[in-house]
Amino acid sequence: MEFSIKSGSPEKQRTGCLVIGVYEGRKLSPAARDVDNACRSALSDVLRRGDLEGKVGTTLLLHNVSPLPADRVLLVGLGKERDFNESAYRAALNAAMKAIRSTGTIEACICLTDLPVKKRDTSWKIEQAAIAVMDGAYRFDRMKSKAPEAKRVLRKVMLHVGKRNEIGEGEAAANRATAIAEGVALAKDLGNLPPNVCTPTFLGEQAAQLGKEHGLKVEVLEQKEIEKLGMGSFLAVAKGSKQPPRFIVMEYRGGKGDEPPVALVGKGITFDTGGISIKPSAEMDEMKFDMCGAASVFGTMKAVALMKLPMNVVGVVPATENMPGGNAVKPGDIVTTMSGQTVEILNTDAEGRLILCDALTYVERYKPQAVIDIATLTGAMVIALGHVATGVFSNTDSLANEVLRAGDVAWDRAWHLPMWDDYQEQLKSNFADFPNIGSRAGGSITAACFLSRFTKAYPWAHLDIAGTAWKSGAEKGATGRPVPLLVHFLERRAHA
Ligand code: BES
Ligand code: MN
Ligand code: ZN
Repeated sequence: MEFSIKSGSPEKQRTGCLVIGVYEGRKLSPAARDVDNACRSALSDVLRRGDLEGKVGTTLLLHNVSPLPADRVLLVGLGKERDFNESAYRAALNAAMKAIRSTGTIEACICLTDLPVKKRDTSWKIEQAAIAVMDGAYRFDRMKSKAPEAKRVLRKVMLHVGKRNEIGEGEAAANRATAIAEGVALAKDLGNLPPNVCTPTFLGEQAAQLGKEHGLKVEVLEQKEIEKLGMGSFLAVAKGSKQPPRFIVMEYRGGKGDEPPVALVGKGITFDTGGISIKPSAEMDEMKFDMCGAASVFGTMKAVALMKLPMNVVGVVPATENMPGGNAVKPGDIVTTMSGQTVEILNTDAEGRLILCDALTYVERYKPQAVIDIATLTGAMVIALGHVATGVFSNTDSLANEVLRAGDVAWDRAWHLPMWDDYQEQLKSNFADFPNIGSRAGGSITAACFLSRFTKAYPWAHLDIAGTAWKSGAEKGATGRPVPLLVHFLERRAHA
């Protein structure tokens, strides 16, 4: 996508689609007023007839509004002016993109970025708009047998700002957004691929390719090497599958040689049947998204490389399927993790923590300044926070706050949950050091408590993205979250 930032008269824009906002009560935004004046109140006339009230997320497409040089004018509802906040702004942008996509225009000029949004500056507004545009233009059709109709696609987008002196920061924000959106698109692609294509082996190949394209040092460890490392817990999950596991390590070195890296660890279950503790069949296809944590690590590594952040980042992905089978791990089995601690596997469907724990021990060798793991870890997370916020758990409050702040500026929001000792008490085993599950109560928290037993050596945060990594229903698909949060976290660290 090609973005340009401009100030000045929207009514003079020669473009395929001129996008302007209307608040509830049919109140024109300032840019819309300029356009309305230039077309002898054609817009106010349409609004007076009642075709658009201004409710947020509604749109109305007009053609040949003379004498404007634009081919189309898209009116976008903004909701109540005094309630125009971040959510309304994003909703308006998303609605605009949906309408733009239904036309064949290759160019658009969006005059929503000039609207005041409470507490947010031009840089934030432009970044959000550029991400919304690229998100809205995203397509996943590589598995369709026929190439989609050769419809013309949006290529050039002009984002309007109120003043000339905002252009510089707008351009910087659009560049940052492009890198983030490329990372998001990669994470979505990997998440959306079917589980017979996106196998652990495939993820290993993708890592190698990412490394080649962006100068990352990539290592893909196979069964034998994983055994040598003593990852008994990770290998226990992999046992039930015919697909061999992979342990993927990607290093981005943009900082000084001796500077401790941030380590990102992503859950890479390429399909989660539950194993012997098998899942019910309804919507089981969605368990192909159980590698979205891994996908977000790939996407973030790509964005960081595109942005050339001056810091060191290591991305680590344990990748395997979780399958039932004659050789699968069983409830009651006890395994020895790489840390030496033993775990009684009471439920083979709590497999994410079993592969992450060994990866979390592995990253100790980097003496990382911080470790963040990202995982579609628990169904309980979806119950607790729904599809809006990612759950954050941490052994270091200041790190949790840093993650929350990054989520807020990225508008990829997260929420801090407790990990008090009281919850740790649920993890007791009569036979091993501890079991892999607690009771049903507080399931996301006890999962985090399990991981905390492997992260004593460094500041650590755990992101449970079970509710935010993908959408079900008509818009089923990966979201690319939390790549925006992670990129902002890293950017702030890089410049700290
Ligand atoms: N990948 C799932 C978590 C999940 C479930 C995400 C549903 C999104 C929707 C994870 O491996 C899992 O199965 N967790 C179990 C843990 C339980 C057995 C303690 C769960 O949440 O039911
Ligand atoms: Mn599971
Ligand atoms: Zn899982």
